[in-house]
Amino acid sequence: MLTLGVETSCDETSVAVIDDQFKILSNVIISQIEIHQVYGGVVPEIAARNHIENILPVLDEALHKANLTLSQIDQVAATTQPGLPGAVMVGRVFGKSLANALNVPFIPVNHLNGHMASLRLSNPDLRPPMLCLLVSGGHTILFKVNEQWETQMLCTTADDAIGEAFDKVARVLGLAYPGGPKISQNANMNLSFIPILNKFPKNTFSYSGLKTAVLNYINHEKQKNNLINLPEICANFQYCAINQLLIKVREFLEQTQIKTLGVCGGVSANQYLREQFKILCEELGVKLYLPTPTLCGDNAAMIAAAAVLGIK
Ligand code: KG4
Ligand code: ZN
Repeated sequence: MLTLGVETSCDETSVAVIDDQFKILSNVIISQIEIHQVYGGVVPEIAARNHIENILPVLDEALHKANLTLSQIDQVAATTQPGLPGAVMVGRVFGKSLANALNVPFIPVNHLNGHMASLRLSNPDLRPPMLCLLVSGGHTILFKVNEQWETQMLCTTADDAIGEAFDKVARVLGLAYPGGPKISQNANMNLSFIPILNKFPKNTFSYSGLKTAVLNYINHEKQKNNLINLPEICANFQYCAINQLLIKVREFLEQTQIKTLGVCGGVSANQYLREQFKILCEELGVKLYLPTPTLCGDNAAMIAAAAVLGIK
C-alpha cells in the first residue's frame, strides 16, 4: 500500500511516497527560501506561483527516486489546511486531480497533523497517549493525543507563534529569513540568563511581549550608538523563548501524569530546545520523541504519514 503525499502550504514544494510501514521511499523538497529572502519573509502570491512551476518536476523526481510509476500509487494525500490560501490551493487541487485521474482515494490532511505524524515517521516505537508540543512558524500548541491519535488542545499562543518571533527578531538583527536557524547559530548559550518574562496567563503561550522587549532593547542600544552584542541578544531571546515552553510543558506533564512527550514543527530543529527538553524529560521520567532534523520542517512525507495514521 503506497501513499503519495503533497505539501505546498508555505514556501516548500514537496512530494513524497511512503509505504504502510512508514518507510520513506522518497521525500523531495524544493525550498523557495532564496526567492523570498530578498523580501525578508514569504510573499504569498510568489509562493503560490512557484508551487505551480515546481509541483510537476517535484512529482517526477519523487517517483524516480522511489523507482515507481504513478500506476503503483494506492492513495494521494495533500495538505488542505491551514496555510497561505493560494499556496495550499495549489497542492490541494493538484492532489485531488491526481487522485481522480488515477482513480484512487484522496485524503485531505491538516498540516498540523502532518507535523505530529513526523514523530511517528522518525520513531517507529512511538504510541500515544502523549502530550505533543507543536512549535512552528505559524503555531505554538500543546495537544493531548489519545491512542487513536485524536487531539485535544491544552494550550496555545495568545498572540505570535514562536517561529514567527524568531523570524521577526532575526530580521531586526539583520539576519536572513528564516531567522530561527540564524539566531540559534549566533547564540552563545554559555552566558547566564534572567528570564525577561516568566509568568504567563494560564493555558497560553505568548511571544509578542518577548519580541517587543527584544526589539525595544535593540532600538535603545542603537540610539545610544552602542554596538549590538549579537551572540548575547540571540542567546537571551532563545533562552526566554524556549524557557516558556519548558515551564508550561512541565506544568501539563505533572498535571496529566502522561509519560510520553512529542515535540515537532520547524522550531523543533533547534538544538538548544532539543537539549533542554531532554533534560526536562529525564528529570520527570518522561519518554521524549523528536522528529529527525530533516523531518522537522515542512515536507510531504509527514503529510502521507498523517494519512496512513488516519489522524482526523
Ligand atoms: O514547520 P515549519 O517549517 O513551517 C510552518 O509550518 O510554519 O516551521 C518554520 C519555522 C520558521 O519560523 C523557522 O524560523 C523556524 O521554524 N525554525 C527554527 C529553527 N529551524 C527552523 N527556529 C529556531 N531554531 C531553529 N533551528
Ligand atoms: Zn509546518
